[in-house]
Amino acid sequence: MTALWLLAACLPDLGPRSVAAHAGRCGDCHPAHAQQLAASAHREPASSELFVALRDHAAASGLAPALCERCHLPEGLTCGTCHAAATHHRPFNGELVHDWTGPVRGPSSTSRAPHASVADPFVTSSALCGTCHDVTGLAGFEERPYEHWLRSPAAADGVRCQDCHMPDHQMPGWRADPQALLRTALTLQRVPEGVALTNHAGHHLPDGASSLRELWVEARGAQLQRWELHAELRTGGQPTWDPVQADEVVLRGIEAGATRTFALPVGTTEVCVCAREVNLDVSAALGLPQAEAWDVACLLW
Ligand code: HEC
Ligand code: HEC
Ligand code: HEC
Ligand code: HEC
Ligand code: HEC
Repeated sequence: MTALWLLAACLPDLGPRSVAAHAGRCGDCHPAHAQQLAASAHREPASSELFVALRDHAAASGLAPALCERCHLPEGLTCGTCHAAATHHRPFNGELVHDWTGPVRGPSSTSRAPHASVADPFVTSSALCGTCHDVTGLAGFEERPYEHWLRSPAAADGVRCQDCHMPDHQMPGWRADPQALLRTALTLQRVPEGVALTNHAGHHLPDGASSLRELWVEARGAQLQRWELHAELRTGGQPTWDPVQADEVVLRGIEAGATRTFALPVGTTEVCVCAREVNLDVSAALGLPQAEAWDVACLLW
């Protein structure tokens, strides 16, 4: 596989048929794909209120914004970010290797395009996504969905990131379409011990930047009980909201394909899985508005 990528990376400069010669005009001929990219969080990965506040906070503590911008590209992901990606140096921390003088890399080769095109197994692999969706060695900014996917039942069955996250080339998520993706992720069921939550995602539930978000199970009724599923950051063993200070990321989510059971307090009338796009401790610390919580799934008791 590596030899094939190296070979592909060494194709001669294709001049007017290269990616570079068409860059910036992809959307003229592929308007639907351009529209889908524009509707996703990939269009502006460096402009959410939360990102800007956290990047500035990190910079004030000595973490250069350039570290973040390897993945949170200030100009946004372009078509070429993925379709000119020939390989990666390492499968994490945004280390993609691009070949702009070569052909457009896609699922298949076609001679009907004005640009050269090749079928490229890297572009259609989870490794493409994993190169940015695996952050390691950057304090509490740690995110390992690709690493978790590699060990998941989905990976064993050959189900890639693209199969779940790119129906029709769209990439919805917590930011672009909060409810849609999460609802497909889980089932909540009655069991003799209480309630069982099963994770159908191809990695932990939740995954990605989960310490910045909230996902929890809540029993409502005579008393309110809450079980957190998002990651907790710690420094010196104590919880902290701050990814810059954190020396430990404690995952509390459910592993891919696994089920967790919750025993409910007496007098429970309803059980819900709830989510919030921005963790309240994080928004309070950074002076951002409080994000609303929503019920992803509920069972009446
Ligand atoms: C985040 C990476 C990414 C970005 C950004 C991206 N694509 Fe794709 N695109 C893919 C992948 C991966 C596939 C193959 C899907 C698969 O393997 O299931 C693909 C497939 C395609 C196809 C083949 C037909 C199809 O829909 O499957 C076209 C055409 C295409 N992309 C055009 C574009 C254009 C034009 C842009 C910019 C507006 C763009 N893509 C941006 C990753 C990307
Ligand atoms: C190796 C790539 C990579 C690096 C480096 C990286 N991130 Fe991220 N970050 C991601 C990915 C991928 C996501 C999307 C995961 C998700 O939404 O769950 C993300 C999500 C986020 C989010 C939540 C989404 C949003 O924009 O509101 C914030 C905030 C964020 N990162 C801040 C940072 C900051 C600040 C830095 C630098 C100190 C940084 N990241 C470094 C890849 C990276
Ligand atoms: C002048 C029009 C035009 C421009 C500009 C253009 N394309 Fe295409 N592209 C096409 C046509 C036509 C096809 C063939 C469609 C078919 O076979 O159904 C195609 C096919 C593709 C495919 C599919 C190949 C496959 O694997 O099935 C991808 C991916 C793609 N283009 C990406 C891009 C990207 C990325 C850019 C910008 C760098 C771009 N295109 C710019 C016209 C264009
Ligand atoms: C079997 C389907 C499936 C596969 C395979 C899969 N995912 Fe997911 N993914 C989901 C579901 C469902 C969710 C929503 C639950 C959640 O947020 O954890 C999700 C959530 C995410 C999130 C958080 C979304 C957000 O908006 O913050 C990221 C990031 C992510 N996946 C990345 C990946 C990457 C990268 C891969 C491949 C290495 C991958 N996923 C493979 C189904 C899948
Ligand atoms: C160049 C780095 C990069 C690549 C390559 C990349 N992503 Fe992302 N992705 C990001 C960043 C950064 C974010 C966070 C954007 C934000 O929330 O502002 C993100 C966000 C997401 C989200 C969450 C969207 C939301 O609305 O919250 C999903 C899902 C996702 N990516 C899937 C994928 C898949 C699938 C692939 C491979 C086909 C992929 N990504 C390739 C950098 C990348």
